[in-house]
Amino acid sequence: MFERVREDVQSVMERDPAARSRLEILLCYPGLWAVWIHRVSHRLWRMGFRLLARLLSQLGRFLTGVDIHPGALLGRRLFIDHATGVVIGETAIVGSNVTLYQGVTLGGTGKGHGKRHPTLCDGVFVGNNANVLGNITVGENSRVGAGSVVLTDVPPNSTVVGVPAHIVYRNGQRVLITDPHDVKDPLSDALIALSARVEELEEKLGAHVRRVEPFATEEAERVAYREELDKLTEYVSMGEGI
Ligand SMILES: CC(C)(COP(=O)(O)OP(=O)(O)OC[C@H]1O[C@@H](n2cnc3c(N)ncnc32)[C@H](O)[C@@H]1OP(=O)(O)O)[C@@H](O)C(=O)NCCC(=O)NCCS
Repeated sequence: MFERVREDVQSVMERDPAARSRLEILLCYPGLWAVWIHRVSHRLWRMGFRLLARLLSQLGRFLTGVDIHPGALLGRRLFIDHATGVVIGETAIVGSNVTLYQGVTLGGTGKGHGKRHPTLCDGVFVGNNANVLGNITVGENSRVGAGSVVLTDVPPNSTVVGVPAHIVYRNGQRVLITDPHDVKDPLSDALIALSARVEELEEKLGAHVRRVEPFATEEAERVAYREELDKLTEYVSMGEGI
């Protein structure tokens, strides 16, 4: 147990530039206390002492502001920075070396039964007040932007932002949305319709621009004249400018 505590403290030391000493981390990081309380409540939960486990987790919530259901599976070296307002649901699974900031919810969508909370793989980072909802998976080493709402799986080594979240980086490469069909948003139908309309107008405008191109008629006549000439087997060129 003490080995795990030492490991947790060390991981905070490595990840938080504001941490100055191990003693400070032990005394001033409620996110760590929440994880330690969860370890006990989770053991009680698995031993079948469900009510006792829930009571302990609520005591932990009162002390730390972090609400972790005793059924949640948490990996090693979880760092909950600033702690307040973090909620981790019953069937959530959190891998190792995960960082969560204040206000993060690993919750359900309110529709599912059974496994209804997310799975965060190793090395995931979730910015403050982000919501990761439903039985989805956030791949290894992926990052969720502050304030994002993640509703679908996130591939490994990606960064997602926005409401609902979309990928902005994957394997270190910037991902840009160029097709409006890729916008996952309640307004995406309106965006698709707008983009189709713009394309249609551009086509019409393009035809108009061609019509008003200067000397377009003269150029067409000239091309036709050269085609006529090409058809003749014998002719004397008098110069195209004449
Ligand atoms: C998501 C995050 C990790 C991305 O960082 P990054 O890799 O440096 O990405 P960038 O800053 O290059 O941003 C990429 C794009 O996403 C946008 N973006 C970044 N974070 C965003 C967010 N949280 N919400 C919406 N859009 C965001 C940027 O505006 C940028 O868009 P643009 O290129 O069209 O201008 C970071 O922005 C973030 O949200 N960190 C959380 C920090 C936090 O919670 N701190 C709490 C301290 S108490």
